[in-house]
Amino acid sequence: MTRKHLVFALGLFYPNGEHVTSWRLPDARPERFLDFDYYRDLARTAERGRFAAIFLADELYVWDRFESGVESTVNERLEPFTLLGGLSQATEHIGLVATVSTTYNEPYHVARRLATLDHMSHGRAGWNLVTSASDEEAWNFGRDANLDHAVRYRRGGEFVEVVDRLLDSWDEGAVVADKASGRYADPAKVRPIHHHGEFFDVRGPLNISRSPQRRPALFQAGASEDGKNLAAATADAVFTLGSGTLDAAQDLYRDYKERVAVAGRDPESLAVMPMLAPVIGSTEAEARERADLILELTPDQVALDLLSHRLQTDLSGRDPDEIFTFDFLDEGTVQQSQSAYKAIQRLVEGRSLTLRQVYQAVAGRGFVVGTPEKIADRIEERFNGKAADGFILMAPSLPSGLADLVDHVVPLLTQRGIYPPEYAGATLRENLAGR
Ligand SMILES: Cc1cc2nc3c(=O)[nH]c(=O)nc-3n(C[C@H](O)[C@H](O)[C@H](O)COP(=O)(O)O)c2cc1C
Repeated sequence: MTRKHLVFALGLFYPNGEHVTSWRLPDARPERFLDFDYYRDLARTAERGRFAAIFLADELYVWDRFESGVESTVNERLEPFTLLGGLSQATEHIGLVATVSTTYNEPYHVARRLATLDHMSHGRAGWNLVTSASDEEAWNFGRDANLDHAVRYRRGGEFVEVVDRLLDSWDEGAVVADKASGRYADPAKVRPIHHHGEFFDVRGPLNISRSPQRRPALFQAGASEDGKNLAAATADAVFTLGSGTLDAAQDLYRDYKERVAVAGRDPESLAVMPMLAPVIGSTEAEARERADLILELTPDQVALDLLSHRLQTDLSGRDPDEIFTFDFLDEGTVQQSQSAYKAIQRLVEGRSLTLRQVYQAVAGRGFVVGTPEKIADRIEERFNGKAADGFILMAPSLPSGLADLVDHVVPLLTQRGIYPPEYAGATLRENLAGR
């Protein structure tokens, strides 16, 4: 299988876009963040741009570790499966991907939700596996502290196995629904799974028959050793942080593809999709102005607290104009997000940056600022350069950031022959394959 076209997915964490305070932008619509129509319009715009999927990121807590969290950022988001259920009836082609914590869920519930969404959407369901990195999430599920990083990933691996087996517990044609004979299903084609593992004991079968994709597409975003190995063994797509040089992106891409081959799978069966955070303007100056406005609207305290969160260290007592030094832990001992931690270490090491420069860089991480042509060039360079099979669009501001990309960049990519002129298939899996 060779990938001819790149694929896009629209990523939604903050309803306002992938920037902590872009809800303050003039064209942001905070009054609509709990309106179904707001998401319907985003999904339809992404579908107009022939995006393979809309992916709802999710965390199971309110960010209140620092005061600025509740006061300055949007801490509310609709529950993914519920929202995607509605969107499945308001869209036709776009894939519908829900983030699922494998640490704070049970496989039977998740298999059922996935099969339901896949039936409702005629084969467009997917899930983004996360192991939930924060203690605050543990406190919402009866724990004093989060599971260890390594334990979270072991549980995640077993979770995928159980979900897969449950989704496979009804054979093709198991449902006969023969009114004359009174046979609804063929018992020989509906099997318990009798799973007994380190974390789960699940008898099965699932109480929903086989869905159109049978195995809804699995996304993942962990880039630690455990994260990469789990993705290589099980995922159909992996999200990466995306910032950094072309060389670094090519190395990471090669690393994933090699691990997939070692896991005995076709390397093209895993789509490597870096984050893309474009800020687009009709001129370079206009784009720059827009990016500067987003950062101007970011209070220093919020940017500092985000950095403190990611480094699991309260930095608020430090002088922001002093050169930033930090005793970074060995990556393997970091319990929250290891790859996000490592990305900050790479940013700081060997450079003389002030604390202010570091937290502003982390707040504006990965912005790609420029004209539609410049953004298209960047995308083409990474796709043709074997650094990406597609991108997870985390537009810093919504809805404008998405509309700009769909109206001005997608046509350029289509002209260049690297973007699909139409949806290649009916299911998410087919559209993720980049044919
Ligand atoms: C594009 C992207 C999206 C992510 N979305 C979520 C999310 O919705 N919920 C979540 O808890 N973590 C999310 N993460 C974090 C990852 O799931 C993971 O915890 C993180 O990358 C650290 O993994 P690691 O410790 O294996 O490096 C995301 C990461 C990336 C790069």
